[in-house]
Amino acid sequence: MMTNGSDTPGGELAPAPGHPVAPASGNPAGNGRNMQHSAFAGSGMATSSNSPALALRNVSKMYGGLAAVTNVSLSVRSGERRAIIGPNGAGKTTLFKMISGEVSITHGEILLAGRDISRISAYRRVALGLGRTYQITNIFPRLTVEQNALLAVQGLTWRKFNPFGTDGTKAMRQRIRQTLAQLHLEAYVDHEVRELGYGQQRQLELALALVGDPKVLLLDEPAAGLSSVERATMGDIVRGLPRDLTVILIEHDMDLAMNLVESVTCMHNGEVIAEGTPALIQQNPTVQAIYLGDMSIHNTRTPAPGSSATNTSNGR
Ligand SMILES: Nc1ncnc2c1ncn2[C@@H]1O[C@H](COP(=O)(O)OP(=O)(O)OP(=O)(O)O)[C@@H](O)[C@H]1O
Ligand SMILES: [Mg+2]
Repeated sequence: MMTNGSDTPGGELAPAPGHPVAPASGNPAGNGRNMQHSAFAGSGMATSSNSPALALRNVSKMYGGLAAVTNVSLSVRSGERRAIIGPNGAGKTTLFKMISGEVSITHGEILLAGRDISRISAYRRVALGLGRTYQITNIFPRLTVEQNALLAVQGLTWRKFNPFGTDGTKAMRQRIRQTLAQLHLEAYVDHEVRELGYGQQRQLELALALVGDPKVLLLDEPAAGLSSVERATMGDIVRGLPRDLTVILIEHDMDLAMNLVESVTCMHNGEVIAEGTPALIQQNPTVQAIYLGDMSIHNTRTPAPGSSATNTSNGR
C-alpha cells in the first residue's frame, strides 16, 4: 500500500480502522476516560467474537514537545458508521495514522477485533483487515486505474505475482473489476489516472482501500475538495458499502457526515471532547462553542470571508 508516512513501526507501509459512541460530555477538558459512555460503548475487554471492531485505550501521540493526540479512548462496534469531527489540527489524521501504523503511538493500546495491534507493522494491520484512504490524493497518476488497483492488491497478498502480467492474477483482476464497478469506475480501467476527474480519483482511492476486503475502513475526508454533486455521489457510495464493514470517517462537511453515520466523536486539541449520536453532537454546547464563528463545520473548502479558518488538508 502507498503511504506518505515516515514514522512507520517496523519500517513497513500500510493502512488502518475504528468504535461506538457515548453521550456528549460537554467537558472541554475531558478525555475518553472521563466520558460518560452510552450503550454504544464496548468494553474492549471481551473475546474477539464480541469485541469492538476497533478499540483505542488512552492513546497518545507526542511529536517532540507537541501533544498531537492525548489519551483518546474509542470503541467502535462491528458494522458501525462513525464520524470523527473537529477543527483543523484537532488530531484526527494523527489518530488515523496511529491506527493504521503509519506513525507509532507514544502511549496506549489499539485493538482490532480484540487483538492488540499497537506495535505491529502497518502491513500486518492491513492483512488483519484494516483499510484506509488518505486526506491527500495518493495514487499513481501515470498508471492506469487497473494498474493502481493491482499494485494495491499486490501489497495485500502473501504470494508474489506480476501485477502487469497475466499468470495467477485472474481472480485478482476479477475482484478488482468488481470493486471498480462498485465505485462507478468500470469504464475507466484502462485509463491513466491523470485522465480522471478529481472526484473519480477520490473514488479510485476508496476502491484501492476496498479491494483488499477490509473489516474496518478509515476514510480521511473522502469528500474533500469535491463539488456538491461529487460529494453526493461519494455519500451514496459510502452509504452503499457492505453493512458488515465498519467505517470510520473524518469529515468536515457536517451535512454529509451526519447523513452517513450513527455516531460521532468530536476532537479538539488532541482530545475527545464529545461523543454521541449526530443529533446529540449537533446540540452539544461544547461542540457548538468550538465551531461557533468557524464555518468549517459546514465546509472548510470555502472559509467565511475574513475567517482565519482554512483547510490545508487536501493540498488543493
Ligand atoms: N509529523 C508531524 N510533526 C509534528 N507535528 C505534527 C505532525 N503531524 C501533525 N502534527 C501536528 O499535530 C496536530 C494534529 O494534526 P492532525 O493533522 O492530526 O490534525 P487534523 O485534525 O487532521 O487537522 P485537519 O482537519 O486540518 O486535517 C497539529 O497541531 C499538527 O500540526
Ligand atoms: Mg487531517
